[in-house]
Amino acid sequence: MTDVRKEVSTTAPGVGLATGPRGHFDVGPRAIVETSETAVEAAAVRALLAELQRTGIARHPGPLDLRGFEAISTALGRVVETALVELRAGVGSFLASPGPVPLHTDHPVADVIGWWCERQDPVGGAMRLLDGWDVVARLDTGTQRTLRDTHLCASAHPGAEPSIHPVWTDGHGGARLFYAPWLLPVVPSARRARALAELERALRAASATSSLAVRLQPGEALWIDNHRILHGRGALDPRSPRRLHRVWVSLTARTGPRTGIVRSAATGPSGRRRSGSPRRAEVRRKAAYDSRRR
Ligand SMILES: [Fe+2]
Repeated sequence: MTDVRKEVSTTAPGVGLATGPRGHFDVGPRAIVETSETAVEAAAVRALLAELQRTGIARHPGPLDLRGFEAISTALGRVVETALVELRAGVGSFLASPGPVPLHTDHPVADVIGWWCERQDPVGGAMRLLDGWDVVARLDTGTQRTLRDTHLCASAHPGAEPSIHPVWTDGHGGARLFYAPWLLPVVPSARRARALAELERALRAASATSSLAVRLQPGEALWIDNHRILHGRGALDPRSPRRLHRVWVSLTARTGPRTGIVRSAATGPSGRRRSGSPRRAEVRRKAAYDSRRR
């Protein structure tokens, strides 16, 4: 795996709201942000949104407690899922397994992914981030066209109905990349297989030169644009104490009721997934993907 030593810059408070031509952060932050438990400075939220708009990555240097992280995440939009990211024996999920996690985006229901670090690994645990828009922009137009016509199927959480999304969209709603190497096209074809292989090749090449490593310290938080920034990490020691709290934030649902938060069964108290859920097939594909990489 590439040795990446660059660190992303820390979000500076007070940054003005950027309006990039390709962005999809078209819903401005609330003037006053307040949850039932914690008031959050509107300026801080605007700064985070500005960084997400500009670079796709926003980091809070802390110190921030979990409640503060959740309050900011809630201020950004609607938190539609929370999960605990830590190693758990016998759980077939990248969230809970020590093996390396390849670059991917999460389910498109998440416009923004946020992590808050409770405990970090003593030596590793850095996340690897890559701007997928830049990678797609360098692909030839034929491959881009095919990626618009290539759809992947995934469920947002265990037991949820799977949904289908194009790998690449750059229409009115802004650019969106949806890619995970373990997902297969809904309608396979040689043309789509070639386009996905070309995208994977380009991602690997770009990750060697342009990816960022972010190793959160306890009390730090990070949010990324899930439609733009791919994330992954290297292998962890199987005894790693690393523990992150992850949220999925929907921006389009920000004006809806703040209910329906789904706590991932994959990382819930039981640590077991529901049998027969659409995610089981996804987990099997991830396992097959892992074995091919070894
Ligand atoms: Fe992920």
